[in-house]
Amino acid sequence: KREAQLNSILASVPDAMVVIDAEGTMLSFSHAAQKMFGYTEAEVLGKNVSMLMPSPDREAHDSYIARYLETGVAHIIGSTRRVMGCRKDGTLVPHELAIGEATGGGERVFTGFMRDLTEQEATAAHLKDLQ
Ligand code: HEM
Repeated sequence: KREAQLNSILASVPDAMVVIDAEGTMLSFSHAAQKMFGYTEAEVLGKNVSMLMPSPDREAHDSYIARYLETGVAHIIGSTRRVMGCRKDGTLVPHELAIGEATGGGERVFTGFMRDLTEQEATAAHLKDLQ
């Protein structure tokens, strides 16, 4: 029943949604995430979430999580930030990232919601050109 609930969320949540464990390993990858990044779920499960971002964050992301686990000081959790993602084909995708945290069965997991900003930013640039 719980799994059916999770599958229904993963299929219908409008923003890309990615769940990772405390090591940054991806545990689930929503339909919208597959569309946004061009990877199937099977291609990313068990891999590090850092594969979804460009350098220098790609190399540093493990240390961001480690810093948070050590200090408890959140920099994105509880707010949002505009960041760059990196698709399978290497193109970049600006998006707004929100991160939630939960503990279940003694395990800490993080859920990332990623809202694609490509269209919004193109429209803003276009409006600026018109001024
Ligand atoms: C922290 C970038 C995706 C989980 C950070 C920080 C950056 C970053 C720059 C550190 C902020 C700081 O210390 O000032 C990115 C980029 C992403 C991405 C570019 C694009 C793909 C994700 C996703 C998740 C996630 C999808 C979870 C599913 C975390 C966690 C932290 C963190 C748990 C530490 C807690 C915090 O600082 O609030 N990330 N991230 N990240 N990220 Fe990511």
